[in-house]
Amino acid sequence: MVKPRVIETIEGIQGEFNVETYDKMMRRMRDKGWLETSLVLKSGISSGLALEVGPGPGYLGLEWLRRTKGTYLKGLEISPDMVKIAERNAEEYNLQDRVEYVQGDAQEMLFPDNHFNAIFTNGSLHEWAEPKKIFNEIYRVLKPKGKYLISDLRRDMNAIVKLFMKSVTKPKEIRPGLITSINASYTADEIQSILKESILPNFQVKRGIMGLVITGEKD
Ligand SMILES: C[S@@+](CC[C@H](N)C(=O)[O-])C[C@H]1O[C@@H](n2cnc3c(N)ncnc32)[C@H](O)[C@@H]1O
Repeated sequence: MVKPRVIETIEGIQGEFNVETYDKMMRRMRDKGWLETSLVLKSGISSGLALEVGPGPGYLGLEWLRRTKGTYLKGLEISPDMVKIAERNAEEYNLQDRVEYVQGDAQEMLFPDNHFNAIFTNGSLHEWAEPKKIFNEIYRVLKPKGKYLISDLRRDMNAIVKLFMKSVTKPKEIRPGLITSINASYTADEIQSILKESILPNFQVKRGIMGLVITGEKD
């Protein structure tokens, strides 16, 4: 029996200590090759202008830019503190000409219809107050034939996997946050029901050991 979701936040990751600690964790994951970059590329997202929802410190999108040619990225991030960190990291990558971070809530995107070639997001879904609104917005701002990929943790991961994840997560101060994120995340069945209520078509939900991956394409 899976325990009910426990909401972690609907305002994103805020505060200097939290964003700096989160940045350290993601930088280490980047250095270990643990980001979802290959997953994004394998899903066919490799050209044009992409949108990253909830980029946090930005490593996934920055690695995606580094591994693709002639691509551009917008990052839509609710936390002003995270926007600052992502901008700092983009400068370190020397990619500031190919990426722009915008502060805002993805539930109401200030982008025109049919604007992006692709959209991806990792680890953010469990913080969205109303995922259906963001699924609908993803559909609206994607160009026809545009692909999307949404990956996140899954609350029903095996207890041993959960312990393993906790033990390899560093710095240690971030471990309680990992557990609250897992407890706020969705099961595949829950997210499938929400997707069915949205206008996002042709979705596939895959269960991984630690998380869920939702992919699809606009008609
Ligand atoms: C757990 S972090 C994941 C960051 C990054 N994508 C990664 O893989 O490390 C979730 C991010 O989503 C942002 N976020 C949460 N809700 C959001 C929303 N409604 N609109 C835009 N960003 C949001 C948070 O502020 C945070 O930076």
